[in-house]
Amino acid sequence: MIKVENIVKRYGRVTASNHLNCHFERGKVTVILGGSGSGKSTLLRQLTGLEKPDSGAVYFDGVDLTTLNKTKLYEARKKMGMLFQGSALFNYLNIFENIAFPLREHTQIADNIIKTIVTMKLEMVGLRGTEDLMPSQLSGGMMKRVGLARAMVMDPKVIFYDEPTSGLDPISTGVIGKLIMDLNKTLNITSIVVSHDIESCFKIADNIIILFYGDIIAMGTSEEIRNSSDLRVKQFINGEPEGPIPFQRTDKNYLDEILFD
Ligand SMILES: Nc1ncnc2c1ncn2[C@@H]1O[C@H](COP(=O)(O)OP(=O)(O)OP(=O)(O)O)[C@@H](O)[C@H]1O
Ligand SMILES: [Mg+2]
Repeated sequence: MIKVENIVKRYGRVTASNHLNCHFERGKVTVILGGSGSGKSTLLRQLTGLEKPDSGAVYFDGVDLTTLNKTKLYEARKKMGMLFQGSALFNYLNIFENIAFPLREHTQIADNIIKTIVTMKLEMVGLRGTEDLMPSQLSGGMMKRVGLARAMVMDPKVIFYDEPTSGLDPISTGVIGKLIMDLNKTLNITSIVVSHDIESCFKIADNIIILFYGDIIAMGTSEEIRNSSDLRVKQFINGEPEGPIPFQRTDKNYLDEILFD
């Protein structure tokens, strides 16, 4: 579904994506794991066309996003749904209007059909009947589910999740994880999840990519990653403070960057 070829993205002297090559299989859940500053969000922005790599290609459904003009990119991005970190709901709109927003923005669909679609999506995330509530009246877990209903409202082929379970209790985390898997199975949606949460990652991932300061240090099925003999991978998935992965980034360029720029 998505294929990344040799992308490089630098910010000043920091290389956030260092010649990355990977792919995201259609209908599968791929989790991008990595510590803070490893380049997860940067990769996600390039996958969705929000940001262009300095070099390299990002094929989405066979088309290289990096070559598209604004209009074509806008069209391609309609096939993508995005659950933002913190849900990014509009505080001044009720739940119904939050979910209806992309339809009103991108389509000419009539009001009665919009109503049917919104009700269906709310049903899918288990929140039917909450149409008239405001975001401030929801719990964090419910907000994420509304964000998910909104991400699905245009029937995307791919959904991107940025830290979908951060800040949630274990039960809500489980609910979101199950939703991601269910959507994946029932609608055959390709799911790409950025996460710190190693435990829930193993529960939902078909495939896992681990980033380490701009490099992919491991890539494979959940099983392969769990059984990896790479010390960095072991340290990361076991959350050990001591090991080949330094607690803080210590390479000279990076320190120069943050200390002297
Ligand atoms: N817009 C930007 N301008 C300058 N530097 C950036 C920018 N975006 C990212 N970086 C740098 O690129 C590196 C990777 O950042 P990124 O946000 O992709 O990491 P991350 O893995 O998402 O981290 P976190 O888990 O903390 O969200 C970091 O060193 C960061 O400082
Ligand atoms: Mg990030």
